Amino acid sequence: MATEYFSSLNYTLANEDTIVEYELLPMNVDRVFSIAGSGARCLPLLAKNPKVLDIIDMSQEQIYLCELRYESMRQLSEAEWLFFMGYRGAIQKLKLEGDSRLELFEKLSLSDKTRSFWLERKNSWIGKGFILLGRWESHFQKLGKIFRDYLQCDFSSIFQAQNLQEQISIYEKEWPRVRWNSFMRILASEYVFNKFLYKGHFSGKEEHRTEQRPPYQFIIEEFDRIFRSQLVRKNYFMQILFLGEIRYEEGLPLEAHSECIQKVKKSTTKLNYHVGNLLELLPKNAYDFISLSDTISYIPDAAANEILQKLNPQTSRGSQMVIRSFMRKPKQINTENWSVLKEKEVWAHDVDGTGVYEFHIYQKH
Ligand SMILES: C[S@@+](CC[C@H](N)C(=O)[O-])C[C@H]1O[C@@H](n2cnc3c(N)ncnc32)[C@H](O)[C@@H]1O
Repeated sequence: MATEYFSSLNYTLANEDTIVEYELLPMNVDRVFSIAGSGARCLPLLAKNPKVLDIIDMSQEQIYLCELRYESMRQLSEAEWLFFMGYRGAIQKLKLEGDSRLELFEKLSLSDKTRSFWLERKNSWIGKGFILLGRWESHFQKLGKIFRDYLQCDFSSIFQAQNLQEQISIYEKEWPRVRWNSFMRILASEYVFNKFLYKGHFSGKEEHRTEQRPPYQFIIEEFDRIFRSQLVRKNYFMQILFLGEIRYEEGLPLEAHSECIQKVKKSTTKLNYHVGNLLELLPKNAYDFISLSDTISYIPDAAANEILQKLNPQTSRGSQMVIRSFMRKPKQINTENWSVLKEKEVWAHDVDGTGVYEFHIYQKH
């Protein structure tokens, strides 16, 4: 298992678009299981008010981030939270000289370990907040900077479009296709992914992946699909990658939508944090909804294939499992007693703003 790769703060926001899990989860179920990651995929699920949410990650740092994210969302006002996380640079119309993230942090009630973890690192978040701190998010920002500064690619006009037709027309006229394609051959090569992002555990390695296309071709083609099918100013992932920031608020991720924040504040869910391996926690309880992120790509084939069969025997009919995969999909999942929700999988692939995931959605029958 890729313990070494997952041992630091890898994700603070941008890797997964929560809208899929959010739409699939029914209101008021008994128990939900979710991989933590940054917390930006699992915390919006609280807006559906499950009785219990078990969040797990093998990285303690990701759990520290989840606790901070959750407690700050609950304890700060909406405007304070958006500023604290880094979604905006100030709290509206309060202090003329600007606001202090440290002051907000000091108001929070947190576990001792989470408090000291973040206090020790305060210089990294006081200035701009948390959402772009992770290794992935800084990598995306660096890529965008290279496109803009060194390749002289200005993407801003595409993001100014306010409907898809206008966007496609700008994309066809102005997209720097030759520069983009040749650069992606280097930047999205298997070597770069594996060495710089995944510390040797890239699931898209040639001997490992199930996707036929090499990573650069896959990304070029999937981004082309996104630019032709989704208004990208509504997409936080594309904004961060190409503009280096979330410039248009219609692109804010789900966790920063007012409706979601207010529902999370009101939820009565009991939240449990676990540090450990999902394979150990998963069978312990019966879950109505299981969100596995793309952890399956990193689990040995034998365990991945039996994941549905190893669930708690009390798992009810109608329970769902949502898996994402990037370049390496599960090949032979044993689906005995479970249906594959094909239509939902196609829908999820179409609405997902990152463009890089395949979805595998199962329901117990
Ligand atoms: C799988 S990663 C997300 C990967 C990302 N979407 C990508 O394409 O690389 C999300 C989180 O899962 C955690 N994780 C990975 N495998 C795990 C496992 N077997 N048990 C618990 N957490 C795991 C990682 O620490 C990470 O924070």
